Amino acid sequence: MATPASVLSVADLAADDIWGLIQRAVSLKTQPSPSQLQGKVLALLFEKPSLRTRVSFDVAIYQLGGHAVYLSPEEVGLGKREAIPDAARTLGRYVDCIAARTFSHQSLETLARYAGVPVINALSDHEHPCQALGDLLTIYEKKGRLAGLKLAFVGDGNNVARSLLLASSLVGLDFHIASPLGHELRGAVVRQAESFAAQSGASISLTSDTRAAVKDADVVYTDVWTSMGQEAEAEARRVAFASYRVDDQLLSLARGDVLFMHPLPAHHGEEIAQGLLDHPRSVVFDQAENRLHIQKAVLLRLLCS
Ligand code: CP
Ligand code: NVA
Repeated sequence: MATPASVLSVADLAADDIWGLIQRAVSLKTQPSPSQLQGKVLALLFEKPSLRTRVSFDVAIYQLGGHAVYLSPEEVGLGKREAIPDAARTLGRYVDCIAARTFSHQSLETLARYAGVPVINALSDHEHPCQALGDLLTIYEKKGRLAGLKLAFVGDGNNVARSLLLASSLVGLDFHIASPLGHELRGAVVRQAESFAAQSGASISLTSDTRAAVKDADVVYTDVWTSMGQEAEAEARRVAFASYRVDDQLLSLARGDVLFMHPLPAHHGEEIAQGLLDHPRSVVFDQAENRLHIQKAVLLRLLCS
């Protein structure tokens, strides 16, 4: 059987696909589709904790007429209790789609290779595509466009940054990231984004200078300094990232109508100054809500064609 379409990386989508998802999510907000996924079952296979991703996928499939089954790390023990290809082939006999959050991106790829049903990356160490897609929806809703805007990412070149880099470069959004030495975005993902940017006209800038990145930005974005799975590095990272905190002063270098964004959960007093989520330019809870709408669009794309 041919491997069904999966969304493991933003790069699995073309710019037109992203626009299609955004338009569908916008229309779903006013015109719900209560029975389009009637009878469909989504497995939520999570190796790490989650609030937003787990709840928004569960609510999304329910509101489209389907049903979610949550599988905790203890239950499945991917690669421990059972080999991933065996778990994938079994699960694919029961459910129509799998949204999986894994430590290793390779586990996701193995799941997708063997499941026989579409697999959605619900966050891996490498990417967080659903977050980036929801974020583009939020920026589009607030600004009315994406191309030509400047997004400044302050902090770690992590999973969230990688997906945002790819998504921005596909749709023509200028992506500037300021990271400390040793924590930059690098490698194949940057080269892939550069080739997308050559098509879309986006610019990409990698620097260690937070002020240069944030200057005149339309969007200022940050994420935690220590991602799930990196807890042993937390203290060293606190030192490395100490001058990469987003506060009022840094935000004031951006445009007056800047959007402040964070995928959440946030560590107040680390990557953001206390109170920054309540800044008048913060859209973090709209961002969180939009995960629901964009993931509905992703589910419809994968399960209704
Ligand atoms: N932003 C995000 O993915 O949040 P959770 O880890 O709570 O799912
Ligand atoms: N970079 C963070 C994102 C959480 C949504 C992590 O992987 O923990």
